[in-house]
Amino acid sequence: MIEILSPSEVAKARVTGALVADILYTLKSRTTVGTNLLDIDRWTKEMILKAGAESCYVDYAPSFGRGPFGHYICTGVNDAVLHGLPHDYQLADGDLLTLDLAVLKDGVAADSAISFVVGESAPPSGVAMIEATERALSAGIAAAVPGARIGDISHAIGSVLGAAGYPVNVEFGGHGIGSTMHQDPHVPNTGRPGRGYELRPGLLLALEPWVMEDTAKLVTDADGWTLRSATGCLTAHSEHTIAITDSGAEILTLPTGTLL
Ligand code: MF3
Ligand code: CO
Repeated sequence: MIEILSPSEVAKARVTGALVADILYTLKSRTTVGTNLLDIDRWTKEMILKAGAESCYVDYAPSFGRGPFGHYICTGVNDAVLHGLPHDYQLADGDLLTLDLAVLKDGVAADSAISFVVGESAPPSGVAMIEATERALSAGIAAAVPGARIGDISHAIGSVLGAAGYPVNVEFGGHGIGSTMHQDPHVPNTGRPGRGYELRPGLLLALEPWVMEDTAKLVTDADGWTLRSATGCLTAHSEHTIAITDSGAEILTLPTGTLL
């Protein structure tokens, strides 16, 4: 089902979006060499509950994972790119970390992901991958104007990722979002312009370009959730929730600058 939100529902989505972004940037500011992924999960839980919001993940049991997720945030290190299940691991200097968070507040969900390097020894190829996903996300957002189609967004994202030299996986991509985290339409990270559902004001989309350096093939970790690059190469992921408005796309998951 595709939901079109009323202006008052979009106003609620702005609040949820800012909360998701502020939690992510607070986590980024607290994360250093030696931080444990389970600390990040616990901090996330505390911030979600303090804000009177609910986790979209903890009870989530989709077909692509094993049982309820049981945690509050996805943490992917280096080759782990999607659905990274937090576990007992202390971050090392130069680790490339992806944090992906979705919460529900006042009945409206928002979903965002950031990738960054922990410590001082940033691998140049990892930095380039993060920047490519951020540029692809910006291009997708710029294409998300009323009257355009999902294929226009997919094409914009895929063109940037392809030009940067990365293979594109189409098993997982962006999605509609609203009263629940995952809704139609699916937004593949590559596609043909002019095809697919026509964008209209009140539609919320989570756009999420992600890449693996030298492969399009994913493997599932023994934990039943974490998706890693089949070759063990580095990966990156950037995601925003946007609202289609009369004049274009509004990014809902921008941090307000308040550390929580
Ligand atoms: N937020 C992720 C996405 O970007 C989905 C994570 S589902 C989980 O669509 F169960 F792994 F948490
Ligand atoms: Co998402």
